[in-house]
Amino acid sequence: MGRLRTDSGPAEDLLIELDRDAGVPLHRQIEASIRASIRAGRLRAGASLPPSRTLAAGLGVSRGVVVEAYQQLVAEGYLASRSGGYTQVAVSMPPAAAGAAVSGAATSDSVASTAQPAARGAGFRIDFGYGRTDVSQFPRAAWLRSVRTVLTTTPNDRFVYLDGRGVPELRQALCDYLNRVRGTLADPGNVVVCNGYGQGISLLIQVLARRGARRIAMEDPSSDDDARVLAAAAGLDVVGIPVGPDGVRVDALDLVDADALVLTPSHQWPTGGVLPAAARAEVIRWARRRGAIVIEDDYDAEYRYDRSPVGAMQGLAPEHVVYCGTASKTLAPGLRLGWMVVPAHLVADVAAAKLLADRGSSVIDQLTFADFLGRGEFDRHLRRMRPVYRRRRDALLEALRTHLPDLRPAGIAAGQHVVAWLPPGLDEAAVVAAAARHGLAIQGVGRFRIAAAGPGGLIFGYAILGESAIAEGVALLAAAIRDVRGS
Ligand SMILES: Cc1ncc(COP(=O)(O)O)c(C=O)c1O
Repeated sequence: MGRLRTDSGPAEDLLIELDRDAGVPLHRQIEASIRASIRAGRLRAGASLPPSRTLAAGLGVSRGVVVEAYQQLVAEGYLASRSGGYTQVAVSMPPAAAGAAVSGAATSDSVASTAQPAARGAGFRIDFGYGRTDVSQFPRAAWLRSVRTVLTTTPNDRFVYLDGRGVPELRQALCDYLNRVRGTLADPGNVVVCNGYGQGISLLIQVLARRGARRIAMEDPSSDDDARVLAAAAGLDVVGIPVGPDGVRVDALDLVDADALVLTPSHQWPTGGVLPAAARAEVIRWARRRGAIVIEDDYDAEYRYDRSPVGAMQGLAPEHVVYCGTASKTLAPGLRLGWMVVPAHLVADVAAAKLLADRGSSVIDQLTFADFLGRGEFDRHLRRMRPVYRRRRDALLEALRTHLPDLRPAGIAAGQHVVAWLPPGLDEAAVVAAAARHGLAIQGVGRFRIAAAGPGGLIFGYAILGESAIAEGVALLAAAIRDVRGS
């Protein structure tokens, strides 16, 4: 009988930021980064590292560079080579556990693998609507294995009400994953499992309002169906901070007297900018000066195509940043699984709000996800999906280049959507309306603006569209734009 897995199987990803202009050899930078992560506790004893080939591919370096770095750290005693060919953070991990971790590697997702994504949207030929993940690719077989493990190994007395933070196994597995891949400084005691970001932000806003917060700042533009509505309902003032090409304009922060700021720093929603390191540091300084809280919505960080990884802001200031993650973009929105890493002084209140909201998320689903993460299945699923989404994104960019070369795509390096800015003189609302007449559903950036004016832009959600549907959608848009220009 197996026990629930909380050790990680061979990992697929690891956050390492390389500076190719630093004049420091790349293998030394990799060594230094892993060493620092181990020392800071981001990589736990026993955590497995990605195979050298996988990490090398992810970083865009030759395998020899990674091998050299690993060998050096093995020589220093930070890492240990394991039978089965992978490398772990050195500890006295029992050989049986290491062997079991390797045996979890085989996956067969026959139910999902043949499904083709559909183009839909009632009455539309093609729908570029955002917010849909390709659930036809849900890793059913691997998930089923984890469900089976949970149902055959978990004692009855675990299937009861629990502490508002969630099951310890999942909180630990999430910390291992987030500290390794997102550079967070997360401790299982500070994690609160919730029903997606939607519930997480709701709990946070309730707690902040109860603690006396009066005003909350949001990116302008930003999503219009969660934080904004919830904050207004809780009686908070909502102020927009304009967003530039590199994310939120930090120079505008000091002008508003806010107690909290909701941010999407890794891939601004919807415009796609990445908040640069200096701006992140400035936001943190702002939060420290004011005693404010930054809510980091890391909604789609797992999908990164041709840019270096950017770590989560939470790792810079765990006492001022709430990190929010979700399975909605990676597995399925219908799972309703999300997680927060909460500053120590807020954890008890947020956990209490969670209990009051629904008495806790499903124990069985949480244990299943913990097992799934521990087997390395989450990493494997992401590795399988990245090229799928990347091909769709490439098809979109290619079609835009061909049919609409004067639209300016932005934020293309990550996520499941692209914004394309319209040239001056082309009215966004007119284009959206003409597209609908041509059978194409697409949203403009305008409806997500709070107060700041800006250029017209269109949001292309491409996650569930096959390459030919994407090309067809862009051709429909080109016809619609010809109509607008002709009239
Ligand atoms: C900006 C943003 N954050 C988070 C989410 C995820 O929300 P949830 O986890 O509640 O499904 C979405 C969903 O589309 C989103 O657009």
